[in-house]
Order: sequence, then C-alpha cells, then structure tokens
Amino acid sequence: MAERQVLHPKPNLILGIESSCDDTAMAVVRNGVEVLSSAVSSQLALHQEFGGVVPEIAARNHLLALKPVLKQALDDAGVSLSEIEAVAVTQGPGLIGALLVGVSFAKGLAIQLGIPLIPVNHVHGHIYAGFLEAKESTHWPQVALVVSGGHTHLYRMQGPLDFQRIGASIDDACGECFDKVAKMIGLSYPGGPKVEALAKKGCRERFPMPRVLEESGDLRFSYSGLKTHFLNTYRQLEAKAQIDDQALADLCASFQYAALEQLVRKLSMAVRKFPDTRQVTVVGGVSANHCFRLLVEEEIKLPVSFPKLKYCSDNAAMIAALAHSQAHFGSDGDALCVGWSPYSRYEDS
Ligand code: KG4
Ligand code: ZN
Repeated sequence: MAERQVLHPKPNLILGIESSCDDTAMAVVRNGVEVLSSAVSSQLALHQEFGGVVPEIAARNHLLALKPVLKQALDDAGVSLSEIEAVAVTQGPGLIGALLVGVSFAKGLAIQLGIPLIPVNHVHGHIYAGFLEAKESTHWPQVALVVSGGHTHLYRMQGPLDFQRIGASIDDACGECFDKVAKMIGLSYPGGPKVEALAKKGCRERFPMPRVLEESGDLRFSYSGLKTHFLNTYRQLEAKAQIDDQALADLCASFQYAALEQLVRKLSMAVRKFPDTRQVTVVGGVSANHCFRLLVEEEIKLPVSFPKLKYCSDNAAMIAALAHSQAHFGSDGDALCVGWSPYSRYEDS
C-alpha cells in the first residue's frame, strides 16, 4: 500500500471492507451517506464458548467469509464489481491477523479493478456511522464519543477529517467492562445487551457504585475500578446467599448507571470545555444502549447524533463513508495510501 495513486475522478461509489475483529463486513455506499448495502457475517457463535474473541479463529474465518459477503454486498446493492470506483478498508486498530486478511483482499481487489485503495482508521470510522442516513446535516465543530468494546475515545472535530483526541480510557474500554461484569455473573459474550436487559428490571439505587474520576477535572475515563467494585459487591452477596434474580437485576442496573453516568459526565465536560461545539455524535457498540441514549439526551442541550442501531456495532458502511470524506476533503496524504505498517494496530489515535 505504499505506492500512491491519483484519485481522479473522485470516487462516489465505494466498497467498504471491515475485518478488524470478529465481523466480516462489506458495504456499498454512494456519496458517503447513501448505504446501498451493508452485509455483515458475524462469527459470534464461534467465539462464544471462549468468552471472548480468539484472534486466530477470527482471522481464519474472515478468509472463509470474504467471498460470500462480497457477493451479498454487491447483490443487495444491485451493483456489479466493475461499477465500484474505490475500495476502502479498515487498516487498524484491530487484531493483526484479522486486519491482514481484509487488507490483502482489498488490495487484490483494487489492483484487479484498477481503482484506488483507501485505508481507514476503524475508530474514526465509527464516528461516520453517526452520519449515515442522518436526518440532520453534520455541523462543525463537534464533539464525538466512541464507546465500543475496544475503545472509549472522545474527540473534538473542527472539520470532517479533523480527529483531535481529547480524552480516552486509561484502562478498560466501557464496552469491555460491560462484557467482563457480564462474564462474572455467567452471561455470555457480548455482555452489554444482556446486562442492559437485566438492568431494565432492576433498581439502580440499590448498590451504590463509585463515581469514577469525578475529582480529576479532565476528560480521562476509567473502568477497571468499577469492574472490581462490581465483583466485590457480587461476592459479598454470594457469601450471604443473597443472590437472586432481583439482586442480579439491581446489581446490573446500579453498574450500568455508573458506567453510563461516567460517559455522560465527561461528554458534558467536553462540551463545556469547547463552547463553540455545535453538535455531539455518540457511536460504537455501547451507543445501542437505550438507557445511555436517554441519559445523553437529558444532559446534552445540543443536537445529538446517534447511529441507527444496525450501524452501532462494526460494519463496513461506516468505513466506506469515512473513505469518501478522505477522498473528497482530504489532502493527498489523508486521502490516499500513505503506507500501511503491519504494526499499525499500535497507532492509536
Ligand atoms: O463497536 P462494537 O460492535 O465493536 C468494537 O469495535 O469493539 O462494540 C461492541 C461492544 C461490546 O463490548 C458490547 O458488549 C457492547 O459494545 N454493547 C453494549 C450494548 N450493545 C453492545 N453495551 C451496553 N449496552 C448495549 N446495549
Ligand atoms: Zn468497532
């Protein structure tokens, strides 16, 4: 990918490819916002028995899924491969073996079709999920919060490609914390939706949880202390033989509120810190949480953009959407292949 290509004319019909974790996804997107198809092949069932994603299994199964997922993305879009004007691919961060499968496939496809290859940052891609099929147009400057299984990142964006990271978790990501507490009480991966379902039946006041990093006055997040607090509370209940369905529901509700309150508190702080903010975008797997959406809307007085539920988790439409912006608004360096290092999973921006 080190060689540079000239994007001329600017591509409008883009095939996105995403393989950074356990979903093999491809999508056809027109003009950066119109999703003609978004095919996702999930490997969830293969990883569930291990309680998390196994990198080797993920990489091997991406290989198996690539061809059928490509066919589905093209068929659903009613588009032939020869009409595609650029291939966009997640270059990182993610599981290195899984990324290599997607990048190699994308590169081969681009070479065969004689069209540009556009490398995309997965975390930045999540932000573009919030702009897909949106009712409102996008405003700048904005504050964007990415809350997924691997990342809890806060950005200030003064333009479509201006990703200034202003905050992040110093330990676990928020989604990862949901997954870990779920595992502690015997729920399978991914735990977030299961914890949310239990929390709906519980009382969030029953088990007081710490308001993590409240005094810090900065935009850092932390989830490992909350996870430990949850475990200690659970063990105390267990020791007193007080675990029943209601106790579990109350524990999940108390944990969920503390986890989400921290997100909303820091988001609100970021908006106050940058008073010219015109919009807030909240994305990533955890943004599917209904309670989270309500808390954000209660607290943030600006227009808030959430992705449609199908674009909260990993998908390739968001990758194609960001690639479109890179091709149309980026400098040459932003837009084109600036060289892909096999170690790029460590470049965490
Ligand atoms: O964005 P995503 O699909 O994958 C990554 O890029 O990591 O996020 C997956 C994460 C998992 O940790 C999952 O438990 C969490 O998002 N998640 C939720 C909910 N739905 C998914 N967390 C809380 N509440 C939910 N409803
Ligand atoms: Zn993701």
